[in-house]
Amino acid sequence: MNTSIGDVLIDGSPVAPGEASISVFDIGFQRGYGCFEAMRAYNGRIFRIDGHLDRLQASAAKLHLPLPPRDDLASWCRTVGERAGDSVVRIFVSGGVDPKRLGTESRVAVYAEAVEPPGPSFRVQSRVAPWHSDGVAAELTGAKILSYGYNLAAGVAARRAGFDDALLFGRSGHVLEGPTFSIAWTEKGGLVTPTLDLGILASITRAAVLEVAADLGIAVNQGVFELDRVFHADEVMVLSTVKEVLPVTAVDETTFPIGSVTSRLAAGYRDLVAAELDR
Ligand SMILES: Cc1ncc(COP(=O)(O)O)c(C=O)c1O
Repeated sequence: MNTSIGDVLIDGSPVAPGEASISVFDIGFQRGYGCFEAMRAYNGRIFRIDGHLDRLQASAAKLHLPLPPRDDLASWCRTVGERAGDSVVRIFVSGGVDPKRLGTESRVAVYAEAVEPPGPSFRVQSRVAPWHSDGVAAELTGAKILSYGYNLAAGVAARRAGFDDALLFGRSGHVLEGPTFSIAWTEKGGLVTPTLDLGILASITRAAVLEVAADLGIAVNQGVFELDRVFHADEVMVLSTVKEVLPVTAVDETTFPIGSVTSRLAAGYRDLVAAELDR
C-alpha cells in the first residue's frame, strides 16, 4: 500500500506513487546504505527545514555519500510539502547501484504522507538496545541512516507485547530514546532528558522543546540517567517531528498522568511552530 499524497519526486522528477521505484541492486535496499529525514509540513510549510537538511547532509557526510545541491533538495521538499498541506514530508537518499563506487548513482526520493492523529494513550515498553552507541561514539553515531532495522524490530517486539512502542536503554542501563522519538520526563516541575552525548539522534523537536521550556521558565536537566529515573517521574513525554509533544501514559507497568508541564510544552511547541511559519 502506498501512502504518498500525490506524486513522488525521484531526483526531482514527479512519478506516480504506483510507478515510483528504486532498483533492487541499489545498496540502500540491499544493505541499508543511505540516509533519510522526516519533516513536518504545516499548511504546506515545512518546520525547520534547514535543521533537517543540515542533519541530512551530516548523515550523508558520515556515509561518504555525495548529495545533490542543497538548493535542489530544499526545493524538492518544499514542492512536496506545499502540495500536500498538513503532512509528513519524507526524503530518502539511496547508496546507488555500484557497490564499488557508493553514491555515484544514488537516488533521492521525496514524498508526503498524511499525518496520523495520535491515539488516546501511548504506552511504551523498556527494551535494552545493545546495538546503540550509548555514549561510545562510532563512525555513524548520530547519523539518520537507512539501517533502522534494530529500531524498528524493537518497536515491533514492543507492540507484540501489547505496547505502542519501545523505550530504549543501553547496555549501561542508561535511558536513551525511542526507535523514532526522543524521551523526556518531569521531576518536580523541571524537564529531564538524556544528553546528546549518549549518541542519541539530535532531534529537531527536542531542541525546539528545550527552547520552549526556557521561554516558559521550566528548568531543564540534560544528562545521563538510569532507566529507573523514568519510573519515578511525574510526567513522561515523547518528542518527534511526527509525534510532536506526546504524553506517555505508561512505561512498562507504571502509569503516568497527562500532566500540566507536558500540556504546556505541547501548546508552547505548537505556538513556536505557528510563530516561525507565519513569519
Ligand atoms: C532514533 C530517533 N530519535 C529521535 C527522533 C526525533 O527526531 P526529530 O525530532 O528530529 O524528528 C527520531 C526521529 O525520527 C529518531 O529516529
